[in-house]
Amino acid sequence: MSDKTPEDKVRPPERQYPDPRAKLKQEPPTTGHSWDGIEEYDNPMPRWWLWTFYATIAWAVVYWILYPAWPMVSGATQGVLGYSSRGEVADEIAEFEERNLAFFERLNETELDDIRDDSELQSFAVNAGASVFRAQCSQCHGTGGAGVQAAGYPNLLNDEWLWGGTMEDIHLTIRYGIRNEDYADARWSQMPAFGQDGLLDEEEIDQVVHYVLQMSGQDHDAELAEAGFEVYDWNCASCHGVDGEGDYFQGAPALNTAIWLYGGDYDTLWESVYYSRFGIMPGFADRLRDAEIRAVAAYVHQLGGGQ
Ligand code: HEC
Ligand code: HEC
Repeated sequence: MSDKTPEDKVRPPERQYPDPRAKLKQEPPTTGHSWDGIEEYDNPMPRWWLWTFYATIAWAVVYWILYPAWPMVSGATQGVLGYSSRGEVADEIAEFEERNLAFFERLNETELDDIRDDSELQSFAVNAGASVFRAQCSQCHGTGGAGVQAAGYPNLLNDEWLWGGTMEDIHLTIRYGIRNEDYADARWSQMPAFGQDGLLDEEEIDQVVHYVLQMSGQDHDAELAEAGFEVYDWNCASCHGVDGEGDYFQGAPALNTAIWLYGGDYDTLWESVYYSRFGIMPGFADRLRDAEIRAVAAYVHQLGGGQ
């Protein structure tokens, strides 16, 4: 049996290396500042933080040199790259212009009626025309081209036309407009103000309005309408047609359909006949480029009613 007691057991040597935890427990040095007993440690910044900080300073200096940076009395320092965000936009616009130029030339060189046979050109024209329409026409004709009846802005989606719905007709209408003073070639016609100018008395107007109601298939007084036929034949047929079919040449709307420029109820018809109307559309010959007018004509033509 061994006489060694447990106390005599060989012990492992004392650990000589420092315990890392011991160091943590040590208080770091302080800066000596103290506020209400709270002391400020004097820890060094982490390396990675410092270097990032220096890098941002270097970046700022490089940026000042390359790009517009410091505000001066008038404008700012320009930077050696000559960059400006306005210039960037101008470059982009110029790039688009250049891409469109070839199409614009092709549009100008193609006969109006042949544009739609060239599917690539047609699709360019319709897209470009749609954006012209949004900018120049929608305030009157509505964003979708449905018009505003109360104001006499015609619907461009149907196949009823005042001045004709071929490409040539539409193009001419857009180029010079209607009843404006700006273009000698503007479309022009004027319906007499039958009541206001004493051409018809109120009884005759009542009769002819009932005749128009009959012609357009609405409720009417048959007796008045019959008397109205004669008034119509004498005073209206020369412009609106014997059967009320309208006349593109005079921009006279058809009166024998359910589509109205100003409205087809009794009161509105009465007003149209008594005071007449004088719808004005501006011309675009000086406001848009030729190619843009051709494009927007192509757009309107394909809206639904092109002839
Ligand atoms: C200030 C309002 C106004 C603007 C802007 C305007 N129009 Fe018009 N447009 C009218 C009026 C009003 C008429 C109907 C005139 C009349 O009674 O004959 C009309 C008629 C037309 C017609 C003839 C319709 C038909 O049935 O024959 C076409 C086509 C047309 N506009 C296209 C355009 C296009 C395309 C633009 C944009 C480039 C445009 N308009 C801009 C007011 C406007
Ligand atoms: C000189 C040609 C002319 C004569 C004659 C004429 N009109 Fe018109 N009429 C027009 C024109 C052009 C318009 C469209 C006016 C505009 O767009 O501003 C119009 C518009 C109308 C309208 C509005 C139609 C709508 O869609 O809202 C009615 C209704 C109408 N005329 C009825 C008559 C009646 C009834 C007579 C006869 C008593 C008559 N017109 C005689 C040229 C004429």
